Amino acid sequence: MEMPSDVEMPAATEQARLFGAGPVPRHGPLDRFLRDRVYGEVLGMSGADLRFVLGPSDNGAMVRCDEVTTSTPVMLKVYGLKWIDGRRWDRPALRADLMRREYDNLRRVQPLGAGRGRHRVVRPFAAAAELGATLAEELVLGPDLLHYIEAAARWSGNGELDARLRQAAEFFADLHTLSATGRPGDGRGALAYLEKVVAQLTDFRILTSAEAAALRSVGRAWEVPGRLGPPDEVLIHGDATPTQFLFPPTGELVAVDFERLQYGDRAADIGRMAGELKHLFRLYTGDPWAGEPHIRHFYAAYLAAAAPAVEADALLDRARFHMACSELRIARNSWVDWDNRRFLVREAAACLAP
Ligand SMILES: Nc1ncnc2c1ncn2[C@@H]1O[C@H](COP(=O)(O)OP(=O)(O)O)[C@@H](O)[C@H]1O
Ligand SMILES: [Mg+2]
Repeated sequence: MEMPSDVEMPAATEQARLFGAGPVPRHGPLDRFLRDRVYGEVLGMSGADLRFVLGPSDNGAMVRCDEVTTSTPVMLKVYGLKWIDGRRWDRPALRADLMRREYDNLRRVQPLGAGRGRHRVVRPFAAAAELGATLAEELVLGPDLLHYIEAAARWSGNGELDARLRQAAEFFADLHTLSATGRPGDGRGALAYLEKVVAQLTDFRILTSAEAAALRSVGRAWEVPGRLGPPDEVLIHGDATPTQFLFPPTGELVAVDFERLQYGDRAADIGRMAGELKHLFRLYTGDPWAGEPHIRHFYAAYLAAAAPAVEADALLDRARFHMACSELRIARNSWVDWDNRRFLVREAAACLAP
């Protein structure tokens, strides 16, 4: 008998139960995966007395796993738990693909992200498609970049934020420079992305159709051949937001979440981050200009670290376009209040203007 596709399969319920908080049942599939492949093969710990306990998954896909006798933790990114189009546990093949892609990406960028003890990429341990599409990786304990941004905005921890932003800039510069292809890009993806977010914001009634038309019109100035195309494509993180950068007590930056790793324009990563800084400082302080000194610092640190591989004026010009896209992307979020969404739209228009 064929099951309607929107009915939750018993297998999915079974998988969901596997990841409930508390002790992992002995000799079950998750226990075997952790014991044999993660703690055994990768971490070199063997023994029948290993006992695993899972933490709560809250609302996301991340589940902390602790080994009780040795207090060795790992992080599980459970793709079955991820919200995709408002659902969890459905479309197992898609989730397994996302998991595999992230696992392969993390392995691929390990050497590129390993910079002079100042930054690195989170270490992947093992992946199991059949276990709710689970990727086991190193658990990184420490605040993320968002924490430093909020601290700087609210309690003037500016020096510390700028030191962290410098590390982020150096991470991007290494990732980009070490993966440079020497092949030029055409910028068509960037223009298509702008069109996509403008259309979404119009559908969500954040933009009137007149405002959308005005944004499309300033956007067209960027269609000049060569203006948005990078001189050489590089590997970009692809989702460079402040929660993807963690700072453990060792002082290094650890980058996570490489699901969107792809070849593209280095300006896309740094412009995305600039849009986030602009938005977060306005959100925390009410001052539309409060983020600017940090954006300038971040760009200057990037240019210093990437020299002589980049031509500064052209890069910063393209970054302006990507910063606008980043602002429009954030304006889509319903959890951002109306006033801040409108601010982001105005800022994006200003960024795109000649
Ligand atoms: N290995 C890790 N150790 C500690 N925290 C992590 C780790 N990986 C991710 N996180 C935290 O969990 C959040 C979500 O993880 P992420 O891989 O970015 O998932 P998503 O694809 O859902 O964004 C991250 O923003 C980060 O704050
Ligand atoms: Mg993420």
